Amino acid sequence: MNSTRRILGLLKPYRGKVLLGFLFQTVVIVTRLIQPLITRQVVNDVIIAGRHQLLVQLCLTLLGLSLTRAVSSYVRVQMMERASQNVAYDLRTGLFRHLQTMSFSFYDRNRVGEIMSRMTGDLEGVRDYLAGGIITMFEQGITFFGALVFMFTLSWQATLTILAMLPLIAWIAFRFRSRIRPAFREAREQTATLNTRVQENLAGIHVVKAFVREQYERELFEQENRKLLGVNLKITDIWRTYVPIMHGLSEICTPLVLATGSVLIATGHMDIGTLVGVTGYIWMLTQPMRMLSQIINSMTRASTSAEKIFYYLDLGPSIRDDDNPQTVNERKGRVEFDRVTFSYDQQPVLQDISFVAEPGQTIAIMGATGAGKTSLVRLLSRSYDVISGRVLVDGVDVRRQRLKELRCGIGYVPQETFLFSESLFENIRFGRPDASLDAVVAAARAAQAEEFIEEMPLKYETVVGERGVGLSGGQKQRTAIARALLIDPSILVLDDATSAVDMQTEYLIQQHLERSIQGRTTFIIAHRMSSVKNADLILVLNQGRIAERGSHQELMALKGEYWQMWQDQLTSISGEGGGV
Ligand code: UTP
Ligand code: MG
Repeated sequence: MNSTRRILGLLKPYRGKVLLGFLFQTVVIVTRLIQPLITRQVVNDVIIAGRHQLLVQLCLTLLGLSLTRAVSSYVRVQMMERASQNVAYDLRTGLFRHLQTMSFSFYDRNRVGEIMSRMTGDLEGVRDYLAGGIITMFEQGITFFGALVFMFTLSWQATLTILAMLPLIAWIAFRFRSRIRPAFREAREQTATLNTRVQENLAGIHVVKAFVREQYERELFEQENRKLLGVNLKITDIWRTYVPIMHGLSEICTPLVLATGSVLIATGHMDIGTLVGVTGYIWMLTQPMRMLSQIINSMTRASTSAEKIFYYLDLGPSIRDDDNPQTVNERKGRVEFDRVTFSYDQQPVLQDISFVAEPGQTIAIMGATGAGKTSLVRLLSRSYDVISGRVLVDGVDVRRQRLKELRCGIGYVPQETFLFSESLFENIRFGRPDASLDAVVAAARAAQAEEFIEEMPLKYETVVGERGVGLSGGQKQRTAIARALLIDPSILVLDDATSAVDMQTEYLIQQHLERSIQGRTTFIIAHRMSSVKNADLILVLNQGRIAERGSHQELMALKGEYWQMWQDQLTSISGEGGGV
């Protein structure tokens, strides 16, 4: 009920259109209600009493009513369609905007396919209800009660026979609604699950094909699809049970009224014209009864769809600006971790991390896979909040800073490159959409991306596919480095940013980066020892703790974990017969 009320609330900005819609709908109904009165006059005055001169006038009135009805219907549909399309637009925009504010943890928990399902199918369900469902409800309701009143003035006895049926119909409608509601909810959930399957399959189609898992994927899909079929059939079953009952009850009305009317005529309490008029109302009374199941259907479908949309809208971002944010006067890139502890859920990922990076320094973070390197740099841009301790950027706790200002100062090259299906030019200037071609070229040069871009047929205008399809892993990474450099950040984060390039290119990138990182605090996460050797501070993470810290010389002298990694790499390289 609550979500139905909220759906109606969405119509508020369009109340003018909606009121006009309802007004014209009322006109349609009134013209319908008047019609049997005229038929009654035709029978009594024209046919029985023989006043034939009235016929033309009555027929013209009927024609006038039909015309008015047609025009009003047109305006009504126009108004309601516009209002509902506008609401759908607002809802889509609102939902998308809201999704942009949501934090990473939300995306960790909610699957893309499911969100897409809310944005499309569920939204359309709500719109459909606003455009048609509500007006049908209004139309049938007014018609029913209007017809009752008009019929009552013609014959209260005939009206009472119909009123006697009402409690039974209401009870059945209530039963129908309470059974179909959970089924609709289940159907919405299952649709979302199915969409997720499709989305994940498509996103990972390379893996599916490489591992020849098409058959398995097909079976998984069919399994979910069968479940959806099951739920939909369940809805049909409920529908099949209740619709004939409701229709049957409405059918009984006609003989009941006819019987009552006949008795009344026989006893001299009713004339024939009145009986004809009364039968004209029977349809108006029974039609809403027949439509009741459809109305309940549409309303329930919309409210279960809306539930999920509103659920998303009600979730606030877990990470948002401080109510009273502190401004950083000068962004120099000083970073301090002060006894930081962090976890995604229960399992601790980082423990007791403390270090300082002075402006312009290069900090290398090393450690085995899963040690917490990516997690550590994510805290810097406040993608997640710490459990305890503080992360300070330029002396201010990141939680006190405006997210926008904080993140604008950090150039981030993520471990997994993501590019948009746009031109390389637009991809590189993603963080600074007003950047000139010269600036883009300079950033590409610094990231060693210029050469391969120049070789492309359309150069910077080359459009890459979804997620960067059409580029090699290393080319994607270099584009991402250029993108990060272009925003001229005070802090640069390179999370395994050269993992996909060959040693020669990595060396070249480093040579160029030397110049580009001048004056920026740079965090380098790398597995190749040569990339981290010159760092001012090397942190070796082990299961979320800093196991060793210092410069290359200091750590080599320590002969600990770092030294061991160095030895291992030397051995593997010389073992392969290559040089360092
Ligand atoms: P990290 O992603 O920080 O590890 O995950 P890492 O050091 O960068 O590893 P590589 O070198 O890229 O492979 C640290 C821990 O946090 C968990 C992981 O399971 C891992 O144990 N984790 C990571 C989560 O629980 N949720 C995430 O979203 C990411
Ligand atoms: Mg990582």
